[in-house]
Amino acid sequence: MEDTTIFYSSVSILFLIFVFKLWFQPTARRRKNLPPSPRPSLPVIGHLHLLKHPMHRTFHNLAKKYGPIFSLRFGSRLVVVVSSASAAEECFTKNDIVFANRPKLLLGKHIGYNNTTLTLAPYGDHWRNLRRITAIEVFSSNRLNMFLSIRRDETKRLLEKLSRSSSQGGFSKVELKTMFSELTFNIIMRMVAGKRYYGDDVEDEEEARRFRRIMKEAASYGGASNPGDFSPIMNWIDRGDFKNKVVSLSKTFDEFLQGLIDEHRNKKAGLESTNTMIDHLLSLKESQPEYYTDQIIKGLILVLLLAGTDTSSVTLEWAMSNLVNNPEVLKKARVELDDQVGQECLIDEPDVFKLQYLQNIISETLRLYPAAPLLVPHLSSDNCTVGGYDIPCDTILLVNAWAIHRDPKLWDEPNSFKPERFEIREGDARKLMPFGLGRRSCPGSGLAQRVVGLALGSLIQCFEWERVGEEKVDMTEGRGLTMPKVDPLVVLCKARPITNNVLVAA
Ligand code: HEM
Ligand SMILES: *[C@@H]1O[C@H](CO)[C@@H](O)[C@H](O)[C@H]1NC(C)=O
Ligand SMILES: *[C@@H]1O[C@H](CO)[C@@H](O)[C@H](O)[C@H]1NC(C)=O
Ligand SMILES: *[C@@H]1O[C@H](CO)[C@@H](O)[C@H](O)[C@H]1NC(C)=O
Repeated sequence: MEDTTIFYSSVSILFLIFVFKLWFQPTARRRKNLPPSPRPSLPVIGHLHLLKHPMHRTFHNLAKKYGPIFSLRFGSRLVVVVSSASAAEECFTKNDIVFANRPKLLLGKHIGYNNTTLTLAPYGDHWRNLRRITAIEVFSSNRLNMFLSIRRDETKRLLEKLSRSSSQGGFSKVELKTMFSELTFNIIMRMVAGKRYYGDDVEDEEEARRFRRIMKEAASYGGASNPGDFSPIMNWIDRGDFKNKVVSLSKTFDEFLQGLIDEHRNKKAGLESTNTMIDHLLSLKESQPEYYTDQIIKGLILVLLLAGTDTSSVTLEWAMSNLVNNPEVLKKARVELDDQVGQECLIDEPDVFKLQYLQNIISETLRLYPAAPLLVPHLSSDNCTVGGYDIPCDTILLVNAWAIHRDPKLWDEPNSFKPERFEIREGDARKLMPFGLGRRSCPGSGLAQRVVGLALGSLIQCFEWERVGEEKVDMTEGRGLTMPKVDPLVVLCKARPITNNVLVAA
């Protein structure tokens, strides 16, 4: 209660100062041609009061009024929001280096090891080094192929679980969100450390429980933006509450990650293998100890967990939601699978490349439901222009990929789910940007396509899927860093006659 009083009294005092300032400053100086901006911008908080979840929808509505390039003030920070494909292209071609920076936020300082992780590091040698290391050690086709057996195994476990729950012969109700989330966490953790923390066959239940608790807490901060990042006075109102929680989480997380590294360093018996990302990085450390510090290795694990799990699992959830809402699409995909892969063996990852319709379903899902609807914030490191407007140094850039993906000037019937649209014009890269564009774009897109492709293909091959009721699955987005579905997806699932055979054979 006290907090709210302080809040409101400070806001009203500030409002008075604001009116006062307006009164005595009738001639606003505007030398720069900044992008248009809603008025008024309140002192201290700027436009923060306008921000309602989901943000991409709020920005889309503002863009209808102020155009595809508009600006806002988040406290003392200038933010430019871009909502057209051509402006986004201008940002990530002509101005790619200028925008290759990231804003420094509180989360980055504490959880992101002083902004030294791949996702948050400022543009420069350190970031380039991290991109190079991961390009070789994690995302190269060599490494991705090496870890194929993990993705195969985890997908098969998912199928077996589903087939057990629908063993009565008829349709049974299943909740897919949790299953997808466990699939992606297990895949990443096995690549990184050789461990499964979800499902059956968990080796160390206590450790797994600790891990799950940490990830749950981390996820709860995902959707929370910290007002203190934008204006110091908000920090004072918040009284460091958010900060304290973040600091405490980062400590727990750090201890956990350190434990994993130490364990691999001491080559504890019982680990699945010594062919994990941690082992590879530790062996590089032998030749370059000053660069491959524990902090760098922990930062990499952290990034893979935070950037590589939820994104893929919500994409799977949106894809399945679209399929049960559009049974004709599901049917067509199954025909393609039966034609190309047949009914004798289980689909394997390399098959995904010849399943064009399946890939179009994934593209269409990423178009309508991009897991990062505003990409990841960029920061300008120099003055530049976009669409004729001046963008000063230190401006935060948000690209509304969600709005671009639904722009009626670029797509016909932009709001309908039609994978066929990609048959005519194969995914024009400049309009479809779920992974971002330019040098800061997603390095995990290849891995994501494989994980999502194999899982989705297997689900279509092995099971029949139906909605629980007559009415369509609710496609409303909830709040969160990765665009989640407001209601976790629950569907009816029934094993196809071939399922048991292909599962046993695989
Ligand atoms: C469907 C799944 C995924 C989507 C939609 C997605 C999307 C994105 C987007 C939009 C960005 C920001 C681009 C920008 O700054 O403009 C990004 C960055 C990033 N993604 Fe992904 N991603 C996915 C999966 C993954 C996976 C599986 C991994 C790794 C295991 C990953 C790792 C990263 C990293 C490390 C960055 C930061 C790159 C940098 O700042 O230099 N992502 N992703
Ligand atoms: C990381 O960002 C925080 C928050 O802005 C800043 O206080 C800190 O100095 C930065 N650390 C490094 C090493 O750049
Ligand atoms: C971040 O950097 C500051 C100095 O720049 C240092 O005092 C602090 O310990 C660092 N924090 C972490 C988690 O490394
Ligand atoms: C950007 O432009 C302003 C003047 O508009 C100038 O003061 C500033 O030094 C410029 N910044 C850079 C990094 O060039």
